[in-house]
Order: sequence, then C-alpha cells, then structure tokens
Amino acid sequence: MDRTQKRIASQPLTSSQSTEERALPLTHVAIIMDGNRRWADRKGLPRLIGHKEGVKSLKRLVKHVSAAHLDFLTVYAFSSENWQRGQDEVDYLMELFSQVLKYELAELAENGVRLRFIGNLAGMPAQLNRGLAAAMEDTKLNQGLKMQVALNYGSRLEITEAVGKIAAEVQAGRLSCSAITPELISAHLYTKDIPDPDLIIRTGGEMRLSNYLLWQAAYAELYVTAVLWPDFTPAEFDRALAEYSARQRRYGGD
Ligand code: FPP
Repeated sequence: MDRTQKRIASQPLTSSQSTEERALPLTHVAIIMDGNRRWADRKGLPRLIGHKEGVKSLKRLVKHVSAAHLDFLTVYAFSSENWQRGQDEVDYLMELFSQVLKYELAELAENGVRLRFIGNLAGMPAQLNRGLAAAMEDTKLNQGLKMQVALNYGSRLEITEAVGKIAAEVQAGRLSCSAITPELISAHLYTKDIPDPDLIIRTGGEMRLSNYLLWQAAYAELYVTAVLWPDFTPAEFDRALAEYSARQRRYGGD
C-alpha cells in the first residue's frame, strides 16, 4: 500500500466525499445484516425486537450512503432458507416488511432511492408481493441510491433459474451453446443490470456467504465484523470502507 492509499483509507466516507473520489473505485456494496437476535439476547429483550432494531440500523445506513453518493446498495433481508425459522418469527418479519413499505417508502422516494426487490418474489405472501411491485414501480425513475433488497433470495436458486432459462432458449433454437458466456449468465440473474458488488460486508462475525450473491461475489472484497447488525452505525460502515480502500484488487492477475 502506498502513502496516498494509506491516507485515503484512514479517512471516513463523509457526505462531502463522493465514492468516486476515493482511491479504489467503489460502486456497489452488498451487506449481510446478521446478528439481530443475538443483539436482543444480549440486552435481555425478546428476540424479535432485534429485527425491529435492525430496521432502524438500515434506515440510518441508507441515509448515510445516500449522502455519500454510493451508487448501489444490496441488503440480504430474508433468505430462501429463512422460512425454516419459527412461524412466529416468519410472521413477524413479513409484518415488519409490510410496515416498512407502508411507513418508510415515502421518505425513501423523497430521497431519490430506487428500490428493487430481488429473489423469488412469487413465493412471498400475495399482499406483500403486490406492495413490493408497487414500490418498485413508484421508485423506478429515481436517480439516487439504487437499493436492492434480497427477499426469499437464494443464490443457488437464482443460478438454477438462470440456467433453466438459457437451456430453454437453446432448446428452442434461439441460442447456440457457444453463445453461453459468463456475461450471458449474469444477464439472466435477478441482478442483470446491476454491477457486481465491490465489497460485501457481513455483520455478526460469521465467516460465510450464506447463499448470497455467489456468482456476483466472484471478485468482491469481503469484510466481516463482529458488530451485530443493530449496532452497525455509519461510523462502522466507514471503517469497512477504509479497510476496503487499503486492499489491492487483482482480479486473479498480478
Ligand atoms: C439476521 O439476523 C437478520 C435477518 C434474518 C432479518 C434481516 C431483517 C432486517 C434487518 C430487517 C430490516 C430489513 C428490511 C429490508 C426492512 P439473525 O436473526 O440471523 O440474528 P442472529 O444471527 O443473532 O440469530
């Protein structure tokens, strides 16, 4: 790391410093928001309260990254495996997502956020699914932060669906096998017009990707912090960015 990089890496991302001005380009940050229930356990609170605090943490971060002109933020809110949690927790989370759409959408839209939901949305409760579609439609022309929320998302399922669509095109004679490239596969994923993440942050300390953006993460830098999601402040985010700025990205080259 040279001196210039070190200086920039040690500076927090402030609203006056756009992400383009940073030493290492940063367009897309993806986050695994883990540790809500442990946060509640540690405070002696009902576990589900941890998820409510998780929403507050996300709101704080969206404001921060919007002000800092980050282009893309993708958060993992509910995985295709999360249905295996207790029914009470699943119901609570679905209600929480509905509440966020009802009470937070206007402010997000005012701040220019373009919302997209990625995942198997048809598998979400029907009423919520309609709300998700409306939120995407209402914000689709917004020019600010492009925010993706992964809901009923699983990367293996996403890749499997993409392979199925490509195979159908080959079978129908519209595509030859030699036209199957990494770019073509990317173009069949939920994230088709979104650049791959530069940085993936995981809170809560676990060292795994948990079926999140496996294809898209090929060259992403990983940052894991023990900080639990409800405690993940803008200052913690800036710490992750400072560490990212000090990394050397080689994409498999020298
Ligand atoms: C992981 O913590 C978190 C979740 C499964 C839910 C994430 C949801 C939110 C942060 C709510 C806000 C999201 C939106 C989009 C409104 P965990 O339950 O696995 O915690 P643990 O690791 O302590 O058990």
